[in-house]
Amino acid sequence: MTKEEAKKRIEKLTRELNEHNYKYYVLSAPKISDYEYDMMLEELVRLEKQYPEYADSTSPARRIGGEVTKEFRQIRHDYQMLSLSNSYSEEDVIDFDRRVKKTLETEVEYVCELKYDGVAIGLRYNNGLLTLAVTRGDGDMGDDVTANARTIRAIPLKLKGDYPASFEIRGEIFMNHEGFETLNAEREEIGEQLFANPRNAAAGSLKIQDSSIVAKRPLDCFLYQVVADNAGFQYHYDTLKKAKDWGFKISPYMAKCNTIDEIFDFISFWNKERYALPFDIDGVVIKVNAFSQQEILGSTAKSPRWAIAYKFKAVRVATTLLSIDFQVGRTGAITPVANLQPVLLAGTIVKRASLHNADIIEKLDVRIGDTVYVEKGGEIIPKITGVDLENRESNAMPVEFISTCPECGTSLFRKEGEAHHYCPNEDNCPPQIKGKLEHFISRRAMNIDSLGEGKIEMLYDKRLVRDVSDLYNLTYDKLYGLGKIFEATEDKKEKKLSFREKTVNNILKGIEASKEVPFARVLYALGIRYVGETVAKKLVNHYKTIDDLMKADFYELILVDEIGDKIAESLISFFSQEKNRNLIEKLRERGLRLKAGKEEISLKSTRLGNKTIVISGVFNRFSREEAKRLIEEHGGKNAGTVSSRTDFILGGADMGPKKLEKAREMGIKIIAEEDFLKMIEEPSP
Ligand code: IVH
Repeated sequence: MTKEEAKKRIEKLTRELNEHNYKYYVLSAPKISDYEYDMMLEELVRLEKQYPEYADSTSPARRIGGEVTKEFRQIRHDYQMLSLSNSYSEEDVIDFDRRVKKTLETEVEYVCELKYDGVAIGLRYNNGLLTLAVTRGDGDMGDDVTANARTIRAIPLKLKGDYPASFEIRGEIFMNHEGFETLNAEREEIGEQLFANPRNAAAGSLKIQDSSIVAKRPLDCFLYQVVADNAGFQYHYDTLKKAKDWGFKISPYMAKCNTIDEIFDFISFWNKERYALPFDIDGVVIKVNAFSQQEILGSTAKSPRWAIAYKFKAVRVATTLLSIDFQVGRTGAITPVANLQPVLLAGTIVKRASLHNADIIEKLDVRIGDTVYVEKGGEIIPKITGVDLENRESNAMPVEFISTCPECGTSLFRKEGEAHHYCPNEDNCPPQIKGKLEHFISRRAMNIDSLGEGKIEMLYDKRLVRDVSDLYNLTYDKLYGLGKIFEATEDKKEKKLSFREKTVNNILKGIEASKEVPFARVLYALGIRYVGETVAKKLVNHYKTIDDLMKADFYELILVDEIGDKIAESLISFFSQEKNRNLIEKLRERGLRLKAGKEEISLKSTRLGNKTIVISGVFNRFSREEAKRLIEEHGGKNAGTVSSRTDFILGGADMGPKKLEKAREMGIKIIAEEDFLKMIEEPSP
């Protein structure tokens, strides 16, 4: 690719990716698959590394972060960042309307909006480019979190259309429920403290000093106020509609209201419907629409007189804690679950609530028979947030955390610093085995969607499947005619499963198709502790094959990007166990992909143009493993032995005499490390 071509390609990718970004994150209407997007982004990152002079400041490649801030710079807000006065009753809203009308002495049009529950942010744009992002702070001064804000896909780096030359737009950074649940699940897996709710998760994420970590947090942003002098707008509502055209994410749930009844309709509608939203709101904001009227009304020291927040009442109910069950997950982690006297909470009947771990039980000091408060937060499962101590029976005993596994009786253990108790009996404890199987077939792992929780349970109970490799031994005859009736439980209805021709064929087809799943997902599917999707991808990118990964020792592993002590230890422990090595061999025999496919290798260049290279000897500038990686990253192929297919030998000190001899015999070139590095380095411009 010539420099001119690279420049054009970078421009084209930047333009197209920004547009896809907008369609995906702002309009929620993606036009291409995640995979296609990732491929384009990877190409752009690679080209920008090669030709940094053409990288644009609005490039989507910037969104992966990288800038580390030691301390956030303090920035004075151009316009004070006020807060809203809160109201909790209809009277407060009626009073607000009265006050407004009294001052203005005319009819007033309001705009009702949702009150997003996150962190306030002010974004400054100059000539269409995002130049500054500042938190509210004390209202006068806030933190400069520009590097972090740039990683949030819903915040445009470059605007479209007909925007004012310079203005500020304010909004709320938040995390939706799905992102929050995933983040907490990941944190639970690695033993990190969980976020109590999506708002804390959003606030905590925005304060991280390493923007590349922020980039991985599922943050989102709705904008709700344009702040500009002389931008020529008359109405708040119209300004937000315009801001949508400039590329901002503006909530679709806004309404113009002309009467107090219309305002109350909006409030009561969202008070009920808020649980159907994929993110948390904690109320409704009512604003005077005309800027001229807002100006007349002005502000108090703390809040504008032209707006008010109506806060929803916390949905909290009191009920009795009947008992506590202890559930065992696929990693052996024990989760206490509260059984409650059924109670109606925000439209659904709640019977169970998660208590997370022993520390939470202790902190709440919750006892069987207690009257407990249950709340619905960002999570799907409601949680116990407190205990009514006045109602406690005098003989109520503190909950004793179990010491043996409720499923298999093995003694539990708890590692220093970890929140969970674990059952160590990973090979024989049924929920652990079933959990591993369920993880293996899950969508992001092997994606065998013709199997599900119920079918896995049946295959396990019928002793057809004990480990994941057994799935690949299933045949039509073994499956046909199997059946089971699952008893109705409190949570689920009775379910009948019976395997007829269609079901069996679907299962077998799904299993067969999983043999094409790329190596990184197979590695993730194995369920090695701390090896989530991202870590699996990193490992595959580095090692390329399961054999090389299995050979790596601790010190080598921790040198790999993003692999720390914990992950390295977990990998070493997994691969050192014979049963796991046998499992890998069985999976290999069944034809699963245990090598990186072409689509998984991110090529840095093709300078080694498919050449087959044998490494021999030791090097000063890189290890043998690194040499292997360099060869692959630049499009070459590694081979173990010298043959007629060898293009050259990368020779270091102490090259094996046999290889040397053979190379001479066959007339194969030996290339020294300095020359090799020159081959893969970019030609100087
Ligand atoms: S307008 C003068 N609109 O609520 C303040 N605020 O105390 C103008 N919030 O943390 C704010 N949703 O970030 C406005 N639709 C909305 C909002 C909203 C959430 C937050 C805001 C601030 C708090 C107000």
